Amino acid sequence: MIQIKDLSLAFGDQIIFDETSMEIKDGERVGLIGQNGTGKSTLLRILTGELEPDQGKIETSRDYRIGYLEQHLHFTQPTVLEEGCLGLREEDEYNVWKVEKILSGLGFSTEDFHKAPSDFSGGYQIRLNLAKVLVSEPDLLLLDEPTNYLDIVSIRWLVSFLKKWPSELILITHDRNIMNSITTHTMAVHRQTIRKTEGDTIKLYGQIAEEEEMYQRTAANAAKKRQEIEAYINRFRAKASLASLVQSKIKKLKKEKVLEELKTIQTLGFEFNAAEFRARNICKIDNLSFGYTPENQLIKGLSITIEKGDRIGIIGKNGKGKSTLLELIAGELTPDSGEIVDHMHCAKGYFGQTNIERLDPKMTVEDEIQSADPALDYGKVRRMCGNMMFSGDLAKKPISVLSGGEKSRVSLGKILLHPANFLLLDEPTNHLDAESCDALIAAIDNFDGAVALVTHNEMFLHHLATRLIVFDGGKVFLFEGSYADFLKKVGWSND
Ligand SMILES: Nc1ncnc2c1ncn2[C@@H]1O[C@H](COP(=O)(O)OP(=O)(O)OP(=O)(O)O)[C@@H](O)[C@H]1O
Ligand SMILES: [Mg+2]
Repeated sequence: MIQIKDLSLAFGDQIIFDETSMEIKDGERVGLIGQNGTGKSTLLRILTGELEPDQGKIETSRDYRIGYLEQHLHFTQPTVLEEGCLGLREEDEYNVWKVEKILSGLGFSTEDFHKAPSDFSGGYQIRLNLAKVLVSEPDLLLLDEPTNYLDIVSIRWLVSFLKKWPSELILITHDRNIMNSITTHTMAVHRQTIRKTEGDTIKLYGQIAEEEEMYQRTAANAAKKRQEIEAYINRFRAKASLASLVQSKIKKLKKEKVLEELKTIQTLGFEFNAAEFRARNICKIDNLSFGYTPENQLIKGLSITIEKGDRIGIIGKNGKGKSTLLELIAGELTPDSGEIVDHMHCAKGYFGQTNIERLDPKMTVEDEIQSADPALDYGKVRRMCGNMMFSGDLAKKPISVLSGGEKSRVSLGKILLHPANFLLLDEPTNHLDAESCDALIAAIDNFDGAVALVTHNEMFLHHLATRLIVFDGGKVFLFEGSYADFLKKVGWSND
């Protein structure tokens, strides 16, 4: 059990938590939601003790252990087993068998124990991180967007693992389906407070909406009454016979707390900046082959002609070459053989997987946006900041303190400055909250040009893709049809 009491925290003028409390009881698996930048990761940092709140207390039962699943892959030991042992508690130091047991449970074979962590795919590296947390035997497991950068197969594995988690957990993810399939309770950071309910996200947002409606109604009624009383006072102020009555009304009015109107919460809404394109074929890939080493050819003999309205889903497990293909098309890598021929009016907009890591932590939001086009006048830069929900002083924030979703919005803003007719998007929805994802999907849907999209989100694939480039079973191939067709007619191999 863990309780937070009267928590307050602000970063400068930005209030994150305002005297809020919450409690998690034994065995509750809690999903944590809220818009990008509301303070979800910050809450986890407070729970782990990494960050000291301005005010408030955290109380737990005795010897309560909190484990945090690192999202960043950063290993220091030469082997998987030694890396796993880093998670052992001091009194457990010599119980290597505990680590072996957990590693096996997470799908590592005995031979794997002695291999280097870096030999494994992203999915297995996350499992290694998870093993490190699990060997510390936490009562409360904290996970901050664990599915970012995991492939569909690893995500499915993680979901089934977490469903069986026997004690408490807090899970942040912007994927509602995943969240609702794991959690028993839902918690949101909303208007600087933490709200929690038993049940799923729909139920929690339903409750919040209902309460806010009631609040607005009460506030409107109170404002109307106030006006009536004020009118009375003004009318009879001069009348000596009513003086005491007027005085008492004035007192009453002063005592009453004014219910402020709720501020509208801004959500992301934007359109891609489409460059004109009148022809049909925008880009032609002919017999393309590429490998980082000659022994490991990631792409062999791929050919496809991309047309203006295409929505191409690029799918496959981690490490198979999806991002590499986008980098090739973007011109950041050179093919070993074959060629990529662009139409003379083809203008590409590339959102790479590592985009947000390319932002300069020392720059401010507005400087970063400006850097995409130094010739752009300041007014336009500020307008783009506003569009990406950094209005006023928020545009002066340094990149280093931004949340994941906020960084993604900065990267998006930079792309939007350049007109394009062929978008190359590599997991663009990572880090974005549910509404921002919807806005991005809508923008892709409306885009007047071609789109090649790498995503592990099956819902987006179903919704958008009209053709697929599939990395599976050791080869790359084109599938002409929707993702539903692909699952029905071809499906994933088991390699
Ligand atoms: N050290 C800091 N100084 C100033 N502002 C900060 C600092 N750390 C975080 N912030 C701000 O606090 C807010 C909350 O950040 P946090 O990372 O907790 O958001 P989040 O809810 O996890 O968002 P996301 O969904 O994008 O991950 C953000 O607006 C962020 O820019
Ligand atoms: Mg976060």
